[in-house]
Amino acid sequence: MASISSLLNMPAPQIQSFHICASSSSLFPPFQKTKQRCKPKRHHASRVKCSGDTNRRDILIGLGGLHGATSLSSSLPALGAPLSPPDPTNCVTSTVVTPENGTFKIECCPPPPFTDYVIPASNNTQFRIRKAAHLVDDEYIAKYKEAIRRMKALPDDDPRSFKQQAAVHCAYCANGYKQKGFPKNLDVHGSWIFLPFHRWYLYFFERILGSLIGDPTFALPYWNWDHPNGMRMPSIFTTDTTSPLYDPLRDPRHLSAFMDLNYDFGKEDNPHVNPTIKQINSNLVIVYNAMMPKEEDFFGKLFRAGDDPDRHYGSLETLHNITHGWTGDNTNPKSNGENMGILYSDARDPIFYCHHSNVDRLRKIWTTQLPGGPRSNFNDVKDCLDSTSLGYDYQSNELPWLNAGGLVKRKSLSRAAPKQAFKVRKTWPTLQLPLTLDSILRTTINRPKVGANPLEKEVLEIELEYDKGQRLGFDVFINDEDDDDIGPLDAEFGESFVTLPDHPNQTKVSSSFRIPLNNLLQALDAINDESITVTLCPKYGKSLPLLRASR
Ligand code: C2O
Repeated sequence: MASISSLLNMPAPQIQSFHICASSSSLFPPFQKTKQRCKPKRHHASRVKCSGDTNRRDILIGLGGLHGATSLSSSLPALGAPLSPPDPTNCVTSTVVTPENGTFKIECCPPPPFTDYVIPASNNTQFRIRKAAHLVDDEYIAKYKEAIRRMKALPDDDPRSFKQQAAVHCAYCANGYKQKGFPKNLDVHGSWIFLPFHRWYLYFFERILGSLIGDPTFALPYWNWDHPNGMRMPSIFTTDTTSPLYDPLRDPRHLSAFMDLNYDFGKEDNPHVNPTIKQINSNLVIVYNAMMPKEEDFFGKLFRAGDDPDRHYGSLETLHNITHGWTGDNTNPKSNGENMGILYSDARDPIFYCHHSNVDRLRKIWTTQLPGGPRSNFNDVKDCLDSTSLGYDYQSNELPWLNAGGLVKRKSLSRAAPKQAFKVRKTWPTLQLPLTLDSILRTTINRPKVGANPLEKEVLEIELEYDKGQRLGFDVFINDEDDDDIGPLDAEFGESFVTLPDHPNQTKVSSSFRIPLNNLLQALDAINDESITVTLCPKYGKSLPLLRASR
């Protein structure tokens, strides 16, 4: 595959550790390489701080590259304090070398001067309702196109211009900024800062569009890819090549295809225009799996001052990575997956904002609408926790994935009687780590403790290291038995891990991947077993030279 070619010289990811967490620790029996075939996949998330007044102001400065004099707070944050916004006067242009494109620069830095932004006293006077992109009417489409057209027509150095808005996003992910007071890069992906950052980012983008057409009620649409009727690129972005909503840098095979949320970039691609029921159900289960985790498993890991800009995706961010990669141009070796398939360029495609509108919507649904009542949220991002306080909300739509857990084929309950819950942890031979994930790996892992409290959360955690510029995907199966063709509709399917690279580079990044086990073990009728078998199936590039070469 062309899109993989820039990765050919990159080493395979390395498994750093592999354990189950509940209240107990981990035990490693040896991995075995197997010949089994495997299919599907899945995720993790991140964040920016936008709490108290000072912090909020600083975030906004950083976010918008908002122009004029800045009063960035002068005191430096302590290690472990909430992240501070970067110094926009100290933005760095990355220079990148790739085999296909030679040397090129990633120009993301906002033009000076910078200024404080003051949040309007009331955001609620002109409420904005974001609607599903496949349901909007002609009047809305005309307005939306005109707003984007005007934004694109602004001079390049106007901070409101489409070019500058896209660059704002780029600077936050392609090593544009250092963390204030630390030599480390600031990256708003791969941690819980992902969701609040993008909420604010869209907020400004939307308000600029509204102001350009003199309509303060203007709202972005959302790409409703969690609903079968929205599981394609919305036609408003694809049918008219002269439209300001069109972007030529998209995967041409997917322009009218039905989405596959279990997409394998490393395979020959024959997308369906008309989906099978199985395809629809598979997508719904993948959305369901991404929406069910709690706290950090959904949001992504905490990211604070002085932390390495690693990748600890929450389940929603991982799901979002899939749509990005599926949309970007994967057929041109020179494209690096542009625009949507790589972070430095993704916001150059107008569909980006529609995609993120849905991410933001799902975050809201997760917080407020899932069974079991409102869920916990991060307290230190108070002023962007509730989208209605920012003056917008989402048109409601049915949530067909909500019951998709029932689509998964449960494991037959007729197998041998469950083993007795074990009392003593066994010691297993320690794995030879790190281990390169260059072929299918299987191991058996003892569970920390069984039966004490069935409500206790149990998670399989895999720690990885890989190149940050690498597109990587692998699937995890639990207790699979050399089945030939298993996927999201089978109980053995654990999760898919999918990255979204930032820009071509070979910076090593640490990453962790957490798979909630409770429901999975129930469906597998394995809730009383003392151990589980875990199979890791590399997906993208699993048979590519880059993987073999690294042995
Ligand atoms: Cu900042 Cu969809 O990424």
